[in-house]
Amino acid sequence: MQIKCISVSYILCLTFVGTYGSENAPTNDFPASFKFGVATAAFQIEGGWKEDGKGPSIWDVGTHEHPNSVVDGTNADIADDSYHQIDRDIEMLRDLGVNFYRFSIAWTRIMPNGDRSSLNRFGIQYYNTLIDKLVANSIEPMVTMYHYDLPYELQKIGGLTNPLFPQYFESYANVLYSNFGDRVKLWITFNEPSDYCVPGYGAGSEPPFVNATGIGEYLCMHHSIIAHARAFHLYKRDYFKQQGGKIGIVSSSRFYFSRTNDTGIVNRALQFNLGWTMHPIFSKSGNYPEVMIRDIASNSQMEGREWSRLPEFDEFSIAYIRGAADFLGLNYYTSRYVQLGPHAETKNPSWEKDARLNCSVDPSWKRAKTPWLYNVPEGLGGLLRWIKEEYNNVEVIITENGWSDDGRLNDQGRVDSLKEHLRYVSQAIKKHGCNVIAYSHWSLMDNFEWLKGYSERFGLYYVNISSPERTRVPKKSSDVYKRIIATRKLD
Ligand code: NOJ
Repeated sequence: MQIKCISVSYILCLTFVGTYGSENAPTNDFPASFKFGVATAAFQIEGGWKEDGKGPSIWDVGTHEHPNSVVDGTNADIADDSYHQIDRDIEMLRDLGVNFYRFSIAWTRIMPNGDRSSLNRFGIQYYNTLIDKLVANSIEPMVTMYHYDLPYELQKIGGLTNPLFPQYFESYANVLYSNFGDRVKLWITFNEPSDYCVPGYGAGSEPPFVNATGIGEYLCMHHSIIAHARAFHLYKRDYFKQQGGKIGIVSSSRFYFSRTNDTGIVNRALQFNLGWTMHPIFSKSGNYPEVMIRDIASNSQMEGREWSRLPEFDEFSIAYIRGAADFLGLNYYTSRYVQLGPHAETKNPSWEKDARLNCSVDPSWKRAKTPWLYNVPEGLGGLLRWIKEEYNNVEVIITENGWSDDGRLNDQGRVDSLKEHLRYVSQAIKKHGCNVIAYSHWSLMDNFEWLKGYSERFGLYYVNISSPERTRVPKKSSDVYKRIIATRKLD
């Protein structure tokens, strides 16, 4: 497996480095079956943070108790007020002509305490209304079950580090399937586990602010993967026959380039990123990437530990997790050059130190408002081809991709980024045979960008956050996307 990974990356890397920026084939349209959508997440748009029985999430509590952790001192108590503006949101979706809408359900609206004892019919009603209106307008709902906003009550008992977490999640998933599964056919269990596990339970820099570096993030990922598999098997056993939907999981990943054509480091970087979540589910091994198992075990030993900080899957779990998804959801925003960093220090271990990735950017890459976001559309092409080889051409949905700025209406940066990324998606499908079936832009509208508050705007629609109505105004990019969707052509 390891040899295969390395040789595959080797070919990809050579091809890639050799043809940097030159893939301008005229095949820039999309098959009729290809679906276009836009994405949002409950906490970032809904507001209504304690309305109609909703319970607090770790992000409600985190932003209230640590207001200074949000750069502009804001919170998402009202956000885009989508809790009261379903009709306006649907109007924008209709105007764009999207085939689907990816949104998330707030666990805290459905089960304010995190379990069935607190089932809240108002929460169920809200999402029923949203889903019904989408369906009435021929917009397919794609539902993320978990997008960072854990019920605070579950955090009190350890959150995602609690080994019972998968059981709680399965019970929540059961409620979702039974209430919405007649109309929802595309389910995503988790959004970006590595992005909530590392800052949430490792570095302790984001809610729930647990600093258990080098251990917490691995536990969090472990339980996310098991929880995902439980939700998947529950669906296949009790719902699939009747509802016939698909279940996937989403990870973000950068693509990596090597200035020295070091394919080993490119592969290492991808395994520590995308592979951490996806390898157990989509590879033949049913386990974490070999390089992670090996290096984290050896670092743990050097630190004087009796067992690896990376938890182990037993035989049963491996068989249970392997193949437990119908599609791979990919959030792609940017790429990096990479070289091997120094050995992990034994003090304060972390995922970052275990990974040993020394990353840099190319001076020619254009930067967005967001400091980590450089426009590298060719990285998306590279990543899609890597996924194709690594995971046996699994079905891929690009669940997020986007660009941030200050919220300007003439958002040429977003227009360029959108078109350039879509060109690589088109080429990945037509030229390289990648099994990409859908693309979803982040985001429908400007929203609460986590610890960046409203200072970084990702929307196709501007939202006036100081107006009580949270007025939405179309940006230039919304017109461009609309035209692409209607014509299935980029030019
Ligand atoms: C990915 C996350 O899923 C989303 O919530 C966030 O707003 C975007 N990245 C942009 O940072």
